[in-house]
Amino acid sequence: MAETLILPTSGTRTEIYQTIIPQIKAILSAETDLIANLANVTAIIKEALGFFWVGFYVVKDNQLVLAPFQGTLACTRIPFHKGVCGACYTQEKTIIVPDVEKFEGHIACSSASKSEIVVPLFAGGKVVAVFDIDSDKLEDFSEIDKIALEQITQMLEKFFIMA
Ligand code: SME
Repeated sequence: MAETLILPTSGTRTEIYQTIIPQIKAILSAETDLIANLANVTAIIKEALGFFWVGFYVVKDNQLVLAPFQGTLACTRIPFHKGVCGACYTQEKTIIVPDVEKFEGHIACSSASKSEIVVPLFAGGKVVAVFDIDSDKLEDFSEIDKIALEQITQMLEKFFIMA
C-alpha cells in the first residue's frame, strides 16, 4: 500500500484534522502492530500540523516510558505523579496547558516547548498510554485539538488490547 499522506495545501486546523482522520483510519485498518501504528500516527500529526514534538508514553514498569515519537530527544521515564503527562495519567483526562511555565511541575524536555496537550489512551478501563504534543507557540491548543486527538487516540486503543 502507498504510504503517502494527502494534505491540503492550506486550511484551518479543523480542515487538516478532517483530512487526516480518515487517512489514519485507513492506515490503522491495514496494520495490527501497536508500535508500527503509534509510530505512523506521530509521523502523520507531525507532518500535517508541524508541532514541535509529538509522541507517546506508555505505562510500563509502574511509570510512563517513552514510546514512538517525532521530535527532539526526550525524557525517557516519567513517574505517574509528575509533569503534564503524569497529571493526564492520574486524572484520566485530556490536559491542555496554554503556557507550560505556568503549570506547576511541568517537565521541560525542551526549552522550545511553550504549550502542550496530553491525551490519555484507555484499555480495559485503565490508562495504558498518553499522547503528548508540544508546541513552540503559546496557547496553541484548544477544544478543536482535544476532540480530534481523542478521536485519533480512541482508534489506537484496540491495539493495546491486542498487543
Ligand atoms: N512536558 C511533559 C514531559 C514530556 S515532554 O514534553 C516530551 C510533562 O510535563 O509531562
